[in-house]
Amino acid sequence: SSDEEGGEEYLFKIVIIGDSAVGKSNLLSRYARNEFNAHSKATIGVEFQTQSMEIEGKDVKAQIWDTAGQERFRAVTSAYYRGAVGALVVYDISRRSTFESVARWLDELKSKLKMQLTLNIAVRSYAHSDTTVARMLVGNKCDLDNMRAVSVEEGKALAETQGLFFMETSALDSTNVKTAFEMVIRDIY
Ligand code: GTP
Ligand code: MG
Repeated sequence: SSDEEGGEEYLFKIVIIGDSAVGKSNLLSRYARNEFNAHSKATIGVEFQTQSMEIEGKDVKAQIWDTAGQERFRAVTSAYYRGAVGALVVYDISRRSTFESVARWLDELKSKLKMQLTLNIAVRSYAHSDTTVARMLVGNKCDLDNMRAVSVEEGKALAETQGLFFMETSALDSTNVKTAFEMVIRDIY
């Protein structure tokens, strides 16, 4: 029981990345506070929320980091990725260019985590390589089906070739938001 285990706790860092205005901040606010903002401003710097869930009787906390998709508003990127064990890579199903950027975001994730791995080995501490990071490709704004510019099949295919989970979500109507975050958290656990 949890009493015998002395209240074991887990804290996982998860990052959300993707182009500006794909809905990263709204996915996080929907998941953490069940809030949606139709007029949200572009994120400047970094924000995070901590959300708990119970897995097999253990209290698992996810610290979910959200940063600006816009280059000029982004904080020092290596710090953003440091210690991350999960990542949601988000595009907007109604804007093709955001889907085409996914490869670039995956490259950044990979290179930052590789750098981190190298540094961690140097100090002989525990490290994660990019393959041990739980990654999910998220096609957000699936409520905009009438404006769709990326098919579900294309999303699935990209996720499959890159070895990512895949899910279409809507921060607006809540479709799959909880499921997407919790799949990543469960996979890490
Ligand atoms: P940056 O902070 O600039 O990187 O953008 P972001 O990815 O955080 O986007 P944000 O969450 O601020 O959302 C951008 C716009 O898209 C806002 O007007 C949101 O209301 C809208 N939006 C977010 N998610 C959805 C969704 O699922 N469906 C629809 N229809 N609109 C959404
Ligand atoms: Mg934002």
